[in-house]
Amino acid sequence: MADLNDPTTSWWRNAVVYQVYVRSFADSDGDGVGDLPGITSRLPHLAELGVDALWITPFYTSPQHDHGYDVADYRDVDPLFGSLTDADDLLARAHELGLRVIVDLVPNHTSEEHEWFRAALAAGPGSPERARYLFRDAPEGELPNNWSSVFGGPAWTQVDDGQWYLHLFDSTQPDLDWRNPEVPAMFEDVLRFWLDRGVDGFRVDVAHGLFKEASLRDQEVGEDERPTSGATTEHSMVERDFKDEPMWDQPEVHEVYRSWSKVLDEAGPDRMAVAEAWTQTPESMAAFVRPDELDQAFNFAWLLADWSAEAFAGVITDTLAAVAPVGASPTWVLSNHDVVRHVTRYGGGAQGLARGRAATLAMLALPGSSYLYQGEELGLEQVDVAPEHRQDPSYLRTGEVGRDGCRVPMPWGGSEPPYDFGPAAGQPWIPQPADWAALTVEAQTGDPGSTLEFYRSALRLRREFAWTAGDAVEMLDLGAEVLAFRRGPLTVVVNCGDSAVGLPEGEVLLASGPLEGGLPADTAVWLR
Ligand code: GLC
Ligand code: MG
Repeated sequence: MADLNDPTTSWWRNAVVYQVYVRSFADSDGDGVGDLPGITSRLPHLAELGVDALWITPFYTSPQHDHGYDVADYRDVDPLFGSLTDADDLLARAHELGLRVIVDLVPNHTSEEHEWFRAALAAGPGSPERARYLFRDAPEGELPNNWSSVFGGPAWTQVDDGQWYLHLFDSTQPDLDWRNPEVPAMFEDVLRFWLDRGVDGFRVDVAHGLFKEASLRDQEVGEDERPTSGATTEHSMVERDFKDEPMWDQPEVHEVYRSWSKVLDEAGPDRMAVAEAWTQTPESMAAFVRPDELDQAFNFAWLLADWSAEAFAGVITDTLAAVAPVGASPTWVLSNHDVVRHVTRYGGGAQGLARGRAATLAMLALPGSSYLYQGEELGLEQVDVAPEHRQDPSYLRTGEVGRDGCRVPMPWGGSEPPYDFGPAAGQPWIPQPADWAALTVEAQTGDPGSTLEFYRSALRLRREFAWTAGDAVEMLDLGAEVLAFRRGPLTVVVNCGDSAVGLPEGEVLLASGPLEGGLPADTAVWLR
């Protein structure tokens, strides 16, 4: 067990982690799709920004039906993104720059092109090959149960011989049967494969998913409700709207993380794993980060909170109370590749940006780790992607807009698409807006009012207190529309109301926007 207060081994406990969506970060070869050499070439941006680590979304062999979250070979790199040598080069360069690297692990399902699923189809009903997945029979005209896919439609697809297989996501992503011992054994090997190559940690996709209630019974739904596996993303912990979820968060899953924790420890005291677990309460989230399980879990309650001092304060208090008994460090996240970018969620335009910067300043002052999503340091908004360019499987299954709008390739420089995302000839896989010239890294660098320089300043200052300010947060009462708290030497005030409020005593270290007449609406400040 590593010393939890040692920044070299327990680096992740107070880290700022930057999420790289591989398709959309940087394209080295001009095919319009981001890739590993592209990431390597842009690592200096992350070092300069001042983050501690990057998390890279899946770059393994995959038919890309869910942009890499459908893995056909967990131990190889898709040619679209490069090669294993490119992965090694990326790790080496990142480590040279003092950046840790977290890779994505997708254990809930494989791609339909994984050799196991191909073998399952070939071998037929009742075979050991089918027993690695969740194949079931159903009476003529019925489905095995009433579950629906997170991406819409039924969670079952029928194969030629009449059996059905379960997929909580796209039909190209069959769910594995984690009660089959071959499955955990395979994933331990995959963990070791990447640990041996030098990765510092894993982001565990759908960590609450792996086990389903063994009976695969129907989900109980209220009178006006339809069954929905997407429940965990639609209702929030904040709303406390509990659902019957036989497909999620089963007790058996914790045994898996106990054994992974040992695999990580064997590789060294400084390897970590962070769970993507959409659970129903802060307490059930905390179960994933007990001392002998995973190290962190994304705190989606923070991302789901409305722009309101009361909502933010509630999430802070509940989160700290939930993780303290298990000794885990809390996490904070505002955006990722699955949700509407927070500037847009907060109303968009100048107000959305001001609020986004203010929420960021609050988050970066809190104990624990903050997870940033590429492009938020530029203040990017959700893009309204034209229907012909949408590729998200959830859009293809439901016709609802989907997640493409937060996955538009990064603008690095220049005055027109592709904004140095890649060689000029290669148009990005999702078109970039024509009005992004002022938002590029190049355009914002050196402009003291820019969002990029704001993030750089915040991260530089954060380094001075992240490991010394302690984990205690004292909430302050400065009025119903003001979020205020003290942590160590720092006082943080966020004005969520409509008009300026007075600033408390203290030296202003950093503000998220201009300070006029006190602390204006939609603005946050760090004071000492
Ligand atoms: C996670 C990923 C999401 C993916 C899904 C299925 O929620 O973040 O992008 O579509 O899992 O793997
Ligand atoms: Mg490319």
